[in-house]
Amino acid sequence: MAAPTIPPIRLGLIGTGLAVEKLHWPALRELGDRYMVTAFTDRSAEQSRRFADYSGADPARAAADRAALLARDDVDAVLISVPIPHLYEVARDALTAGKDVLCEKPTGVDAEQAAAFLALAAAHPDRTFVVGENFFYRDDLRYARALLDDGAIGRLHLMAWRHTGQLVPREGRFTGTPWRQRPQYRGGIHLDFGVHHIAQIRLLCGDIAQVHGAVQAANSTIDAPSDLTLNLVFTGGAIGNYTASYPEIPVPPEPNDMRLYGTEGVLVLAGSESERHVTRSSSDATTNTATTHTTVFRGIDNGYRAELVDFADAVQFGVRPVGSVAQSVANAMVVQRALDSAERAAVLALDPVPGAGPVPLWRPRGSTGLFDGLPGQRISSSASFAA
Ligand SMILES: NC(=O)c1ccc[n+]([C@@H]2O[C@H](COP(=O)([O-])OP(=O)(O)OC[C@H]3O[C@@H](n4cnc5c(N)ncnc54)[C@H](O)[C@@H]3O)[C@@H](O)[C@H]2O)c1
Repeated sequence: MAAPTIPPIRLGLIGTGLAVEKLHWPALRELGDRYMVTAFTDRSAEQSRRFADYSGADPARAAADRAALLARDDVDAVLISVPIPHLYEVARDALTAGKDVLCEKPTGVDAEQAAAFLALAAAHPDRTFVVGENFFYRDDLRYARALLDDGAIGRLHLMAWRHTGQLVPREGRFTGTPWRQRPQYRGGIHLDFGVHHIAQIRLLCGDIAQVHGAVQAANSTIDAPSDLTLNLVFTGGAIGNYTASYPEIPVPPEPNDMRLYGTEGVLVLAGSESERHVTRSSSDATTNTATTHTTVFRGIDNGYRAELVDFADAVQFGVRPVGSVAQSVANAMVVQRALDSAERAAVLALDPVPGAGPVPLWRPRGSTGLFDGLPGQRISSSASFAA
């Protein structure tokens, strides 16, 4: 007898801007067995029309506003992709209306709103409430985390990561949205984009016990600090430095790779969205040589598809999602404490976020492998060199 099939989640989209067009719709389109978009709304009628055009959704499914969308019986869950200052109020209304919620990051505009997100989740224990953090689901990062868990580089003692890239407003890109140029949220780009980097750091290096931050405003096109540098002490004992810089002038090609130094080897995470590289080196003291093992990941989507799968598993099968509100708050609070630290010129401790703890390693439901059933190519190679 064939297993009964579970009908797809009837999904409503609130906000159909760039994140939906470039990130979520390409993933949703491939997940027809898990999701059916039954309604959508955007404050801008033009954006709603644009979504209907490229997705092929019936324009009659456009709701006049979020209240109208949330009142619909044919919407089980919502995906919220509105500008950061509006995320909280929309998530609150959706939960109050009894919907399951996948809300874009970050958890609000500052530490106070991050706490409000936690309280909102606590007030709705019967609902699935996820704040998106696609980096938790990236194949290359999960692979690196599995290597670290297996002791591939021994005990991690140092993390070093500098990320630099020109940032100027470009029409049709994320940088072109006016709400990002004059951000009404503390930290600007370091909260908007920086939470992904913090998620990567926490996934791979564990929780952060102490932070010392410094900031600098050196980009006239954004009304926020463009440079942030952090010295970090991890709860596991390792130390690290993370520096992110977004100048308005072009910069020569930067490696932007993250390096993790262990007692028995080094892990390097490099590459760009189209091709990610994870390289592990281990040395042999007797021959004074080192061997590198590189795995190249192609055709992965930065984790958006797996994030949607985890949310669907939580709604339909009661699986505990990796991208919990608490985990997202833990990411945002590192940025907020870093800004406090910069303002006070002091090293600050980070309080544990209730319900967060170490980031769990996501695997496809019911599987012990990391990539079972997932798209993408993984190519491994090895090389040796004299140490
Ligand atoms: N996970 C990621 O990699 C990633 C990447 C980009 C953006 N995001 C997040 O997605 C969200 C949206 O970013 P974006 O780049 O798509 O912005 P955007 O400006 O392109 O789109 C936001 C859309 O929301 C609409 N809107 C604004 N207020 C609304 C409201 N109250 N109700 C309904 N619609 C409303 C706007 O008209 C706009 O079309 C942000 O929270 C951002 O942090 C996440």
